[in-house]
Amino acid sequence: MRITGTGHASMRIDTAAGSILCDPWVNPAYFASWFPFPDNSLLDWETLGDVDYLYVSHLHRDHFDAAHLRNFVSKKATVLLPEYPTSQLEDELRDLGFTSFVRTKSDEVHELDGGLRVMIQALISPTDGPIGDSSLWVEHDGIRVLNQNDARPSDLSRFAELGHVHAHMLQFSGAIWYPMVYELPDSAKRAFGKQKRDRQFDRTWRYIDDLKADHVFPIAGPPCFLDDELWQFNDIFGDEGNIFPDQSVFLREYAKVGGTNGVVLLPGSVSELTRESIVTTHPVPVDEFFADKVAHLEEMRERKRPVIEAEKASWRHPEIDVLKELKARIEPLLEESIYLAKGVGGPVRFDLESYDGDAIESIVVDFPGKQVRPYADEKVRYRFRTQRALIEHLIFIDEGDWVNSLFLSCRFSAARIGQYNEFVYAFFKCLSEERLQYAEGWYDEHERSVEAEDTQLGGWTVQRRCPHLKADLSRFGMVDGNVLTCQLHGWKFDLPSGRCLTSVGHKIRAERAAE
Ligand code: FES
Repeated sequence: MRITGTGHASMRIDTAAGSILCDPWVNPAYFASWFPFPDNSLLDWETLGDVDYLYVSHLHRDHFDAAHLRNFVSKKATVLLPEYPTSQLEDELRDLGFTSFVRTKSDEVHELDGGLRVMIQALISPTDGPIGDSSLWVEHDGIRVLNQNDARPSDLSRFAELGHVHAHMLQFSGAIWYPMVYELPDSAKRAFGKQKRDRQFDRTWRYIDDLKADHVFPIAGPPCFLDDELWQFNDIFGDEGNIFPDQSVFLREYAKVGGTNGVVLLPGSVSELTRESIVTTHPVPVDEFFADKVAHLEEMRERKRPVIEAEKASWRHPEIDVLKELKARIEPLLEESIYLAKGVGGPVRFDLESYDGDAIESIVVDFPGKQVRPYADEKVRYRFRTQRALIEHLIFIDEGDWVNSLFLSCRFSAARIGQYNEFVYAFFKCLSEERLQYAEGWYDEHERSVEAEDTQLGGWTVQRRCPHLKADLSRFGMVDGNVLTCQLHGWKFDLPSGRCLTSVGHKIRAERAAE
């Protein structure tokens, strides 16, 4: 089996029974904020895109690059489709010209021609990707690989039970706006960033340890930020609170926990994988490449400047009345929302900067009042500050997912009162009837189904499944005093009261175990 690195989360897998191109991403994503790092735009995409199968793990724009799929991927390719609750991924791929689909069933092995076997595990909670993220398992001729991508299943047992995995590709770096965009003192931001960076690595080690593959490939990040306004997010300033460590840092950190089987793929690197061995060749030596990282980024920044400028020029739509349009789009959704609106529980304010950055228009999405209206000098749960042009553009393109556009762009700042509130982001990724209904239904079912089963932890009897995303607390739970931490995403719970200390709602059932 041959694995060719094609940048970020993308790879091409070649077997004697066919080739699979995964998540090709080349064009900038999220308001021209994210670019693939290292640069993959100079690869021979005509050849790479001439494949038998295409796998797009999910709709995040650093995995689903519509322009690239349209121009460079053979429309003869059969799409291996994750089993998602909405048809949006299939619809968008059909719009791009793909006609052949294998609609996989989550967690079921599918036999393709020539003895190629694949399994896609689809994660479908409102907090997984843009409502849906997935991992691809491939087997041919006794060689097994898991492209876990940036999916976060509660464990990897379904893959492990299919037999020893030879290569495991997974995310290790950050892919979020926290904590950089928060209006906090630099020291606090650094401390939160460091915690986050450590947690990302811990989670990666846990997954690696779960699967015990022969070879581990760090993929799916970090992106690079080439706009001068975002340049500080690149991990080139020796800041231990930067959440975007690169593959060379991964190797260093992995070595500290005893990891010796890491394989870094640069765009154009090729790994020949057998059951017994792996031989990888690179277009340039990996060490040298990362030693020259700053020069690589600076060169890319100059080369991509016109692309960023062209994108920026397309955002302004001064004819749009933002308040009126947001009212028309969001109020009907607020009206329908039970769980998300209750979960947010307060007003969320958007401060929109005019084109010259001087004037501010302040709009509130009032979740309890089910209204979009001008800000009325009130306390709000969250406040976001961004350019009016970005919101104009979201309205102009009728964007139904502001996480997959505005928030991931990091082109905003934020402040909040109280804890992180997942419902705020869940709501703003569900700005369409279909998505909102799905999320509401999911929370409804989830509330009812948090299982009655218990487990014993540190002198406490607690519900076995984490109230967040159902991780098994007998594996992921850690009790320190009266606080339980679920190590999957780091959420904390006060056991005597059951209160979640990380997010509103999400109460846990717990009582002291009988002596
Ligand atoms: S499942 Fe996310 S913190 Fe437990």
